[in-house]
Amino acid sequence: MGITWQEEQRLFKLDTPNTTYLIGIVDEEGFLGHIYYGNKIEDATGAAELLRTREAPFTPEKNDRERVSFMDCFPWEYSSHGVGDFRESSVRVKDENGCSAVLLTYVSHEIYAGKPPLEGLPATFGPKDGVQTLDILCEDKSLGLRAHLTYSVFEDTDAIARSVRFENGGSSVLRLEKAMSCCLDMDNRGFDVLTLHGSWARERHMERKPVGCGRYSVSTLRGESSHQEHPFLALLTHGADQDRGEVYGFHLVYSGNFLMQAEGNQFGAVRVVAGINPEDFSWKLEPGEAFQTPEVILTYSAQGLGPMTGSLHSLYKNHLIRSPYLHRKRPILINNWEATYFDFDEKKLLEIAKESAALGIEMLVMDDGWFGNRYDDGRALGDWQVNEEKLKGGLGRLVEQVNGLGMKFGIWFEPEMISGDSKLYRKHQDWALAVPGRRPALSRNQYVLDISRREVRDYIMEQVFAVLHSANIEYVKWDMNRPLTDLGSVSLPADRMGELYHRYVLGMYEMQERLTREFPNLLLENCSGGGGRFDPGMLYYSPQIWCSDDTDAVERLMIQESTAMLYPLSAIGAHVSVCPNHTVGRSTPFETRGYVALAGTFGYELDITKLSDEDKAMVAGQTAIYHRFHDIVREGEYHRLASYQENRKFDCFQINDPTGRESLVFYTQVLSEPNRRSRFVRLKGLSADARYRIFTVNADSGELKKDTGRVISGAVLMNGGICFESLTGDFRGSLLCLERVDR
Ligand code: DGJ
Repeated sequence: MGITWQEEQRLFKLDTPNTTYLIGIVDEEGFLGHIYYGNKIEDATGAAELLRTREAPFTPEKNDRERVSFMDCFPWEYSSHGVGDFRESSVRVKDENGCSAVLLTYVSHEIYAGKPPLEGLPATFGPKDGVQTLDILCEDKSLGLRAHLTYSVFEDTDAIARSVRFENGGSSVLRLEKAMSCCLDMDNRGFDVLTLHGSWARERHMERKPVGCGRYSVSTLRGESSHQEHPFLALLTHGADQDRGEVYGFHLVYSGNFLMQAEGNQFGAVRVVAGINPEDFSWKLEPGEAFQTPEVILTYSAQGLGPMTGSLHSLYKNHLIRSPYLHRKRPILINNWEATYFDFDEKKLLEIAKESAALGIEMLVMDDGWFGNRYDDGRALGDWQVNEEKLKGGLGRLVEQVNGLGMKFGIWFEPEMISGDSKLYRKHQDWALAVPGRRPALSRNQYVLDISRREVRDYIMEQVFAVLHSANIEYVKWDMNRPLTDLGSVSLPADRMGELYHRYVLGMYEMQERLTREFPNLLLENCSGGGGRFDPGMLYYSPQIWCSDDTDAVERLMIQESTAMLYPLSAIGAHVSVCPNHTVGRSTPFETRGYVALAGTFGYELDITKLSDEDKAMVAGQTAIYHRFHDIVREGEYHRLASYQENRKFDCFQINDPTGRESLVFYTQVLSEPNRRSRFVRLKGLSADARYRIFTVNADSGELKKDTGRVISGAVLMNGGICFESLTGDFRGSLLCLERVDR
């Protein structure tokens, strides 16, 4: 690992275990150019030659006549605006004259051990002896604008964290109208771009297309990272798959409006920019003030998507998630949402808890509907006082009884929202986001609280804290059920209104920080109508996020596949629910629903008192499987073996215990096919010269069922594969456990 400054070549060399990133400085002008990002280069002698400065007639110091041509083809480390580079800019600033040109050039740099936190923002971290940071100070002298381009490299992970801090070092006001977190210019080596898209209950489906000329961007203006788009983009060489080809991944650690863009140009180059969406963004910088962008994670793999996944999992587990639950067993929970929706009382919850405790479930989560007069979704958000008509003896008595059954207790909140029909709204109508003179739009019957305001945050957090202090509550589900619209705040002057979207996100981060500080042992699960705010930013506060409101096993195969491409399984909230499924009406075997949910945080979301005896027996089996294997799922090394999103037939992935002693293989055959042979799936990450005994995990009992005589070498399993028989019937899941046997 390391960052070095090579004086004679005037370049920075950033090394991770398997990659190298090179930045060069053009001497006289101080332009900062991108030289290289890819496989590790130990000896970078001569690399400065790769910086495209000698391409006559463009060389600026030799041919000032063609300065614009130079600007427009040079591979910039952080692109300028309005001075000749006509590709996507990284920064745009309105000065006191209303002009918007910016050109940042090198001033100085610093290389130091460790990585400082980013003020008010989630960010990766690490110890002084495990992370190194490069801070390049650039300046636009005529604006008085300084920018610190920072790059952190991690000793144990092939990832680079980049962000930018702007400072107004001049004497007049500047308006930042665009402030991207990174820019990367490279030659287009026949790249495809991979992005994730969806909708409510259908989050993060993959799309891949060739990068041609022009701009391809994914972005959101919903105020949250959103169900529809994901702050991720990868460039892949054509034909790259899980194991082959080059992959550049970009993942933004941010939960609000973003833009991720790939742009092919006239010279066969490609530029990627990532950061806060510049649309509806404008930040006033008084002299002496600073602005910090969110950080973006860059990864490179020369062996396909698999290593990119490995790098991101490792980075998020070791350098982003802070919860004490990160390496702890998560309690198997049962959530009453799909069991009762708003129609529950203390008696109903206790019935669910009693039945659950007997079957190995460890926590009851009381979802929406426990407060104010919340009998449906049309009211009471903001009135965070217990509804004692539903919970007659109050929260304390309910929680005591649940604890008495040996179960933990968790509760739902939606702190960022307010119902029109609420005591809070009647008292503080101006606490909702609204444009003066315009009726704000309802969505799911609710408005958005203006949490850019300190007094609003203080009030809500006081209410939330009072509830949490009133009983032994060990888990919180923090929900957010609508996008932001009608961006107006009574507390911001006109010339700062363009800051509102970002101030909202900063406010939300501050509330989550306060919550986790006040209750350091709380298990926090974020949620946004399912997976509408599933992003690395939220993982900084909560170790798990509800993945989707769609709990159908087949839909979940696709959603969880792409989610697991970026996030560790320990972050993916997944539950077994009833059939026909409430969202898609599909019926799948109880067993299969269990296997799909076991590849996440695992829990239930159904009325357990209404299950058949057969299904109840299976719950006992599934909870036993979780108790036996939770640590492999949480800590193990994940490998994607087959993609149902691609093949539309079956799904398969493997998790290897970090000690190398055990592996789990999850296989789901979606639709049954006539007259089909068995299927071989090649395993990954085993030891070629070891042997493995294969067990089928029996969902009825949770016991390992030994398949006699099935001992297979790692070499056979990885090269030939493991055989899955064709099964009769649709949606058939199975789970295998491999145990290494000593010869
Ligand atoms: C949306 C969540 O995703 C659901 O799980 C549930 O908590 C509802 N909100 C409650 O309103």
